[in-house]
Formats: sequence, C-alpha cells, structure tokens
Amino acid sequence: MSKKKVIAIILAAGSGSRMGSKITKQRMSVCGESILLRTVKTFAENDKIHGIILVVRDDEVSWAKEEVDRISKVICIVSGGKDRAESARKGFANIPSDTDYVAIHDGARCLIKNEDISSVVEKAIAYGAASAVSSVHSTVKRIGDDGLISETIPRNELYFAQTPQVFSTDIYKKAINCNEKCENITDDNMLVELIGEKIYPVDIGSYNIKITTSDDISYAEYLIERERNMYETRVGHGYDVHRFCDGRDLILGGVNIPYEKGLLGHSDADVLLHAIMDALLGASALGDIGRIFPDSDDSYLGISSLELLCRVEKLIRKNGFEVINIDATVIMERPKLAPYIEEMIHNISDTLKIELSRINIKATTEEKLGFTGSGDGASAHAVAMLRKKY
Ligand code: CTP
Ligand code: MG
Repeated sequence: MSKKKVIAIILAAGSGSRMGSKITKQRMSVCGESILLRTVKTFAENDKIHGIILVVRDDEVSWAKEEVDRISKVICIVSGGKDRAESARKGFANIPSDTDYVAIHDGARCLIKNEDISSVVEKAIAYGAASAVSSVHSTVKRIGDDGLISETIPRNELYFAQTPQVFSTDIYKKAINCNEKCENITDDNMLVELIGEKIYPVDIGSYNIKITTSDDISYAEYLIERERNMYETRVGHGYDVHRFCDGRDLILGGVNIPYEKGLLGHSDADVLLHAIMDALLGASALGDIGRIFPDSDDSYLGISSLELLCRVEKLIRKNGFEVINIDATVIMERPKLAPYIEEMIHNISDTLKIELSRINIKATTEEKLGFTGSGDGASAHAVAMLRKKY
C-alpha cells in the first residue's frame, strides 16, 4: 500500500438515458457481472487505493450496498446529484480528512485495468494532477457556422479525456471551490484546468471505453473475451494429511471449528489450505509449500495458513498467474463441516481476491475406513485452475 492516502470516488449516479434500457447502465451485466461491481472490484484490487467512495442514485443505494457487500475497501455509499459534476462534489464531501489524493472515475468505465489505475496515481503523486487519456486516431475537422468544413485540427495535439483523473486533495478542493458557479463541467480535469493547474496526461490507449449504448456492452464483452483468450490455462493438484492430537485448535479454511481435538503441524495445520496452496503452486510450477515455507524455519511456527495463502497469492500473481477456480475436498470422519464451509469460502475468496463463485469446498467421510475413518487424522485434496497471459 502506498504511503499517500488515495481515495477513489466512483461516479455511478447517472440514469443511462442513451442506453435506452429499463435498468440503469451501472446495473447492467457485462460478462455476467454488473458494470458497477466490475469497476469497484478493479479499484478494490489496486494496492495504491486505500478506500472507495461510491456515488449512486438515491433509489439505488440499497442495491449498491448489497452489490459491493463483500468489498471492504468501500468506505461509504453516497447519493449522487443532478449531473456528473454534482455527483463528484457530493462524493468529495465524504472523503476522510487525511486523504492526500482523490482518484475520480466514471463507474461506466468498467474495463479499467489495475495497472492503468496505478500509472495515473503514480503520476498524480509526482505532479499533483494526472489524467488517463487516449490519443485521437482520426483526422479531426472543424465545421463552421455555415455547416461546412472549415479547418483541420492537428490531431497530434488532441486526446480523449478518460478516467481515472487523480488530483491532490488540495488542488481538487481549490478547483471545486473556485468553480462552484460553473456550468457544463463534463469532467474533473476541466475544473482543475480552470484554476490554471497543469495535469499530467497518461495515455492508456482505447481499451477503457465508457459504456454508453447497448453496442458498447457487446464491444466490452468482446474485449473481455479477447483478453481471456490471450491466456494459457494451467491445472494443479494438492494433497495434504495431518494427524489429530489433543490440545490444539482445529482450523480449516481459516475457520476455528469447535472440536475436542486439533490437527498437529508446524503451522496451524490447516490441511485444507495446505492442499489448496499446493494446488496453486503446482499449477504455476513453483514447487510446494514444504519448499517455500520449510518447517525447519521457526518463523512459520504456529503461523496462520491464511497468512501463508496470502503469500502464495502474491507469489503466483508476481509470476503472472491468476486463479480461475479452486475445488477441494476435506476427508474427515468428525466433526461435521457443513456449517463452516461458507465461512471457509469467504476466507479463501478474500485472501485470493477472487469471486466466491470460483471456489468450491466439499467434505466427506471415508466410511470409517483407513486413518481418516478411525479419526487418527484428516486429509484434503484440491485442484486449482490458473491462467497466465501469453
Ligand atoms: N454520473 C453521475 N451522476 C450523474 C450523471 C452521471 O455519477 N448525475 C456518472 C455516470 O453514472 C457515469 C459517469 O458519470 O458513470 C459518466 O456519465 P455518463 O456516461 O454520461 O452516464 P449517464 O449519465 O448514466 O448516461 P447518459 O448520459 O446516457 O444518461
Ligand atoms: Mg450523462
């Protein structure tokens, strides 16, 4: 997390009139997920963003609350104003007092990439103000009052404004205060330009479209699909066993399960997470947990396996891998695990920063056969599918 406190203000309080749909565009689905959730998730995953303020329509506050329920970086949901500028002002009025920078983003730009958010934030931290832009590829003409082409505007000077637009809190506050009476403010750069501040442009290309019409939804889905096809998929398998013993907690999937015994091990002996980590490391060809966290190293003594999973997540991400899905089975005669499975899935989802629907956890007994059947120990199997960009 960067030292500067950066708060994202996501503007999603529009009515989507050009979409011509019964529901607003922030609620519309792109590849199975709402536009709002896609945008918020990308900001939540960015390690330079400390918190998110979501600006939505008055009548969509409770929907939005439910939609982003699991995203802990969302610090508040605010109802928006009559136009984009007013929505931005209302969002800004709710930033924590120690905010150094604000990153203002159109909720409708749900294709924004994590690395592009980082580039714009970095430039804003260096220059005070920065904006995502993209270059203009077509020749641009001016049409005069007579309705005829009068001039060619040199296109090398022209850029499309995109978002995020990131400003130091001081600059943006001054821009808002000085331009309170201004009308037709169509983006936040404009407010800052009007107080004479320079804005650093970051050309992020044309991928980050603002979804405006129904054709844009199809195009966004095509772009997402095309990105997906640029990936190679990998599968990995993990297996682990631990012995039951007295006097230890039983921890599975990061959940402390009430039981008379616990599993024995150097760490917290979370057999489920160990199998999952081995599956992840297997798919990414990065070895296994024994190699990465050797039990000869006392720093791992009693460590939470959720913490180890967090490190594995960073390692596979650093190597270019993303998790597609995980399926795992715990084999244990007693206790019954069904009541705890949902919480395990939530823990894994939060740690790996992937949707709940990408994780499946099952439990079974072995009909009193073998070491699990006798209650001497427990085992777990896991498979993981990962992807890596070519
Ligand atoms: N926005 C907002 N508050 C408003 C108007 C717009 O927060 N009063 C947001 C939109 O939700 C969108 C972004 O500003 O994420 C850019 O606006 P636009 O693409 O124009 O969205 P809409 O206003 O919803 O669409 P339309 O203009 O077609 O009605
Ligand atoms: Mg609009």
